[in-house]
Amino acid sequence: MNILIMGGPGAGKGTMSARIVEKFNVNHISTGDIFRSEIGNGTALGLEAKSYMDKGLLVPDELVNNMVKSYLENLEDKKNGYLLDGYPRTLDQAKAFDALAGDSDLAIDKVIAMEIDFDVLAGRITGRRICKDCGEIYHIESKPSKLEGKCDKCGGELYQRKDDTVESLTVRLDEYSKQTAPVLDYYAEKGIVNKINADQPIESVWSDVLKALED
Ligand code: AP5
Ligand code: ZN
Repeated sequence: MNILIMGGPGAGKGTMSARIVEKFNVNHISTGDIFRSEIGNGTALGLEAKSYMDKGLLVPDELVNNMVKSYLENLEDKKNGYLLDGYPRTLDQAKAFDALAGDSDLAIDKVIAMEIDFDVLAGRITGRRICKDCGEIYHIESKPSKLEGKCDKCGGELYQRKDDTVESLTVRLDEYSKQTAPVLDYYAEKGIVNKINADQPIESVWSDVLKALED
């Protein structure tokens, strides 16, 4: 099964993605994570992406499209399909991905749309902490780590993303409304969107996501 998870910044895409990937044994393709890893490795692509990401702006379509294409082409194990997280995020990206996937086994089967009011997101974004070693996502209130400043799973140090500021969130929300919301309408017309109330405790959101995917 090929899944796309959509939602505003902090809606809980990463949190649900980790569970979906484990449960359904699909490849997790998070464009944000790939860019952050490119930045960490100091590549030219990372350097270019960073100038946009730090401000909360979207990275230009062509860069993202090419990156996803080559990522998919180089996947060694196709597993049970993929989970796209954070891509496509503009109509141009959605059309480019359609052109790439066509009717092949790359076509998207289901879209999970994480719905949440924007005013909840500032608290989610500013309270987020991430393990620098295993990527586990924490929150200082809703999902605190038991070991102070360290990951419960691997002991790795927890860090805050550079774009997790209120200033950058304002720009990210604006980008989401203008550029990404139309993508949801695009998939809704195809009849493959499953809307999820993302403003519930994590376990309740997961149970709704599972229902939508197992349906
Ligand atoms: P990306 O990495 O995709 O970030 P994002 O879309 O802003 O989403 P986040 O990762 O911030 O949030 P999330 O929904 O995953 O929430 P999480 O589960 O962590 O993109 C970053 C940047 O990269 C973009 O701004 C852009 O510059 C660039 N980029 C990436 N893809 C691109 C593309 N296709 N085109 C162009 N540019 C691109 O949860 C958030 C917090 O809330 C956590 O602390 C978590 O513990 C907590 N939480 C989660 N669920 C719940 C819950 N149910 N209740 C309470 N707390 C919860
Ligand atoms: Zn960890």
